[in-house]
Amino acid sequence: MSGDGVRVRPIADADWDAIVAMESRTYAHLGLSEGRAALRSRVDASPHTCFVLDVGARPAGYLLALPYPPFGYPDLERAEKAEPPSTAPRNLHLHDLVVLERLRGRGLGQRLLGHLTVTAAARGFERISLIAVGRSEPFWSARGFSASPGIVPTGYGADAVYMSRAMSEATAESTKRVDVRVPCP
Ligand SMILES: CC(C)(COP(=O)(O)OP(=O)(O)OC[C@H]1O[C@@H](n2cnc3c(N)ncnc32)[C@H](O)[C@@H]1OP(=O)(O)O)[C@@H](O)C(=O)NCCC(=O)NCCS
Repeated sequence: MSGDGVRVRPIADADWDAIVAMESRTYAHLGLSEGRAALRSRVDASPHTCFVLDVGARPAGYLLALPYPPFGYPDLERAEKAEPPSTAPRNLHLHDLVVLERLRGRGLGQRLLGHLTVTAAARGFERISLIAVGRSEPFWSARGFSASPGIVPTGYGADAVYMSRAMSEATAESTKRVDVRVPCP
C-alpha cells in the first residue's frame, strides 16, 4: 500500500463480486456487459497482466489485459479458449479499465495504466492495443494511443475505435506514478 492509501495488486477470488458489479454498472446500459464467466476467463488467460486497484481496503477499479495478436480482440459474447495460442503474441490487449464512478478524475485510471505499462515492458511486450468504447477515445489519445481507422471492431458498439501504442511510444504521462487524492471510503 502506498502512502496515499492506493494499491494495485493481482486479482483474487474474493474480488469477483466487486469486479462484476463495477463492470455491469459501467457497461450494461451500453449493451456491452460480459458477465462473470467471460471476465474470469480473460483473467485466467493472463493473470499477471490483470489487476485490482484498492483504495483503503476496498476494490475501486480494475484493469484486464491479455495477449492477443495485433488487430485481434476478445469476443464479448464468448469466454477465452481454454488452450493458449501456440505462439505467444507480443501484443498485449488492454481489454478493460474501470474506476468506480465516484472516484473518477483523481488519477486512479492513470495509476492502473502506468502499472500495466511497466508490467508489459518487463514482460517483453512490444505493443499495447485496446478498443475505446463509450466515447473514451480522447482519454487514450492523451496517453499516446493512436486509432487504426481501417479496423472496425465488431460487437463493441457504434463508437468503438481500435487503438494501439508501441511500447517505445509510451509517454512519460502514461508511465508516471501519479499521487492521487481520495476521500475516506
Ligand atoms: C476511463 C476511466 C477508467 C478513467 O479513469 P479515471 O480514474 O477517471 O482517470 P484519471 O483520473 O487517471 O484521468 C482523468 C482524465 O481522463 C479524462 N477522461 C476520463 N474519462 C474520459 C473519457 N471517457 N473521455 C475523455 N477523457 C476522459 C478526464 O477528463 C481527465 O482528464 P484530465 O487529466 O485532463 O483532467 C474512467 O473514466 C472509467 O472507468 N470510465 C468508464 C469505463 C471506460 O470508459 N473505460 C475505458 C473503456 S475502453
